[in-house]
Amino acid sequence: MKDKISIIILAAGKGSRMKSPKAKVLHSISGKPMLYHIIKASREISNDISVVIAHQKEEVQKQMESFFDDINFVVQDADNFPGTGGAMKNIAPKNEKVLVLNGDMPLITADALQGFLETQADIIMSIFDLQNPDGYGRVIIEDAQVQRIVEQKDASEDELEVTSVNAGIYAFSKDVIEKYIPLLENNNAQKEFYLTDVISMARADGLNIAPLLVDEEHFKGINSKLDLAVAEEIMQDKIKSFWMNAGVIMQLPATVYIEEGVLFEGECIVENGCRITGNTLIQNSIIKSGSVIEESIVKNSDVGPLAHLRPASHIEDTHIGNFVEVKKSTLKGVKAGHLSYLGDSIIDEGTNIGAGTITCNYDGIKKYQTIIGKNVFVGSDTQLIAPLTIEDDVMIAAGSTVTSGKVEKGSLAISRTKMKTIKDFYYKFFAKK
Ligand code: UD1
Ligand code: CA
Repeated sequence: MKDKISIIILAAGKGSRMKSPKAKVLHSISGKPMLYHIIKASREISNDISVVIAHQKEEVQKQMESFFDDINFVVQDADNFPGTGGAMKNIAPKNEKVLVLNGDMPLITADALQGFLETQADIIMSIFDLQNPDGYGRVIIEDAQVQRIVEQKDASEDELEVTSVNAGIYAFSKDVIEKYIPLLENNNAQKEFYLTDVISMARADGLNIAPLLVDEEHFKGINSKLDLAVAEEIMQDKIKSFWMNAGVIMQLPATVYIEEGVLFEGECIVENGCRITGNTLIQNSIIKSGSVIEESIVKNSDVGPLAHLRPASHIEDTHIGNFVEVKKSTLKGVKAGHLSYLGDSIIDEGTNIGAGTITCNYDGIKKYQTIIGKNVFVGSDTQLIAPLTIEDDVMIAAGSTVTSGKVEKGSLAISRTKMKTIKDFYYKFFAKK
């Protein structure tokens, strides 16, 4: 089945309406570049995928190659042949049927593309009917037939009123591409070669053009940062619905953000206001409100409220309480209930991290590790100056700064200036003023 259709993704444009130094197709939705989502859906239905690049082509190709190793990149001569039609100039698809996708439609899915596989015609084009057609090409239908597509910038007053718009996805027969792409011209408002002009040429030649009604939920094009935010919401709904159907409990899911790539296993609860990103795995755990978890593993644990697990944290059978930040650390069977920074550390079973414990892992030049053994009691407000190893069964007195590099098994470490009390000092001090 995958060798029936070739897919071409147009991703060479500047995307000037994004008002951004970043190429449009690299803007992310739920943690991955828009173009990633389109390629991912495409790979489910085809094994011949070409991506047309030009603007920031090295960066676009590099980022996509970090995810996929089976994509052909084709460079558009965008100076001489700008526009979606220009993008099709150097294309040599393998298969008889060719699906053309815009690179700015991150919401498409393999399911939503089925209609293009099933319909038979010289050209299948996608249409949606919108209350607000702003920004899209208008589809001019006469005598119950698609006649042509008019771009917004070229449209007359009357044409602007048309609410049937071109969603920007087409299936062409290979012959149509070979015949009409070389014939495109750029005598229009944008001085661009419009792929959409193929429609009127094919109509004039009496070819069979099949319109396919699609929905905005899957085919929305992203042109601005406002579109980006709207698409993000749709994608988030999809991701969260998937996980709730898979058994995750979410309280006020509208306030939760979960990136594509996050995995849940077992019984998990995600309270309101949490953000979970990267390739995080959460298994049989509770993530309490307002917590942020980035690229980490959390098993049989509870985290938060208001905790922050930064990348490469591995938390198992552990309690992480409020205002605790963990980075690149492995905690197994640990309690860190309040107000701590645990970075570049390994902390073992039965250990209690008191409130206000800080691993001082950075000296301004390098980062160092803190290794804490089993059943250690770290008193509150302690600074652990790394590199440091604290062996099993150690007690660290509250308020200590541990600088020794190592604390041996079974010891007490205490570093405090001796306390003194001066009787009636208060009364004398304030009496003077
Ligand atoms: C295009 C359609 C419009 C349709 C809309 C749907 C044309 C002329 N217009 O308009 O009818 O309603 O999509 O979303 O096709 N690109 C290139 N090379 C270029 C220019 C663009 O590869 O020289 C790529 C872009 O990276 C983008 C896609 O083509 O992914 C669409 O380009 P864009 O400028 O967003 O087209 P629209 O104006 O939205
Ligand atoms: Ca667009």
